[in-house]
Amino acid sequence: MTVSLLTIDGLAVRYGTGNKAKQALEDCHLSLAAGEILAVVGESGSGKSTLARAVAGIAPVSAGRIRLDGQDLATLRGDARRKARRSIQMVFQDPDASLNPRHSIRTILSEPLEVIGFGDRAARTARIAALMALVHLDLSLLDRRPAGLSGGQKQRVAIARALAMEPRVLIADEALSALDVSTQAAVAALFTELRDRLGLAILFISHDMGMVRQLADHVCVIRGGRIAEAGPVATLMQRPTHPYTNLLLAASLDPKGALADPELLAALTRPGRMDEDYLGRLLAAHRGRNGAANAGEGP
Ligand SMILES: Nc1ncnc2c1ncn2[C@@H]1O[C@H](COP(=O)(O)OP(=O)(O)OP(=O)(O)O)[C@@H](O)[C@H]1O
Ligand SMILES: [Mg+2]
Repeated sequence: MTVSLLTIDGLAVRYGTGNKAKQALEDCHLSLAAGEILAVVGESGSGKSTLARAVAGIAPVSAGRIRLDGQDLATLRGDARRKARRSIQMVFQDPDASLNPRHSIRTILSEPLEVIGFGDRAARTARIAALMALVHLDLSLLDRRPAGLSGGQKQRVAIARALAMEPRVLIADEALSALDVSTQAAVAALFTELRDRLGLAILFISHDMGMVRQLADHVCVIRGGRIAEAGPVATLMQRPTHPYTNLLLAASLDPKGALADPELLAALTRPGRMDEDYLGRLLAAHRGRNGAANAGEGP
């Protein structure tokens, strides 16, 4: 049995107060082990980012516990709290919004090292080089500003900056969504590598079921702020029990048409045989009905 590094019990998040209050997350339970990638999937507005922000300590948690190595983060104070908080780092969708455009890559990577009081100047220089190597960026890029880098390179800098804090949990909130397809695959491979080399636990939030299938060890499906279904990626993708998971899979196989087809929707929301073959046949029939609209869009 794997020992879990991060445990979430009965987590709830409420934004605002009074009759404007929005219960964005309710009764969420999950656990994440070191060296594991847990994908969080769900439609827009289902609460994925809210879950991420709650784990990172930047959402208004109204109930429940977040434990790191068994320690309840809400009860920690002082240095212990800072250290635990640093152990959980986030990477966001848009590197342009998260990297200061006026700073060189060197400065961007120096800042977190200064924050954690990492060694002297020479040690920091060596650490910056090591961080660049970890994310496979050439040292010649250190004197550039973000605008002088490609989208994928910028996202690697954002990852290196998160790694500078020596996290044990990395939260990637749609961190691949803004990249083109080939860059997505390369950055996804980097996540797998970091999981394996550093034993990082990664909470990987994504809309892309194909990417989730390729990258994740476990998947958690979230709907309306609640966890609808969770399990190992192979089980969940091949034998999802919740109709909503089927819908997400169908929508990912045929994003344009699946959710607009009432017959498909009706079939998918019936519980029962929902393996990939069955889904594939349903989708083929669906495409037949929508012939022209989906012509030339692959198998
Ligand atoms: N700061 C906030 N104040 C009030 N409501 C919020 C706030 N942030 C999010 N919400 C609401 O909480 C719900 C969950 O939002 P969240 O951003 O977590 O969804 P998401 O699954 O990340 O969506 P997306 O896929 O579009 O990123 C939504 O109804 C959203 O409108
Ligand atoms: Mg979001």
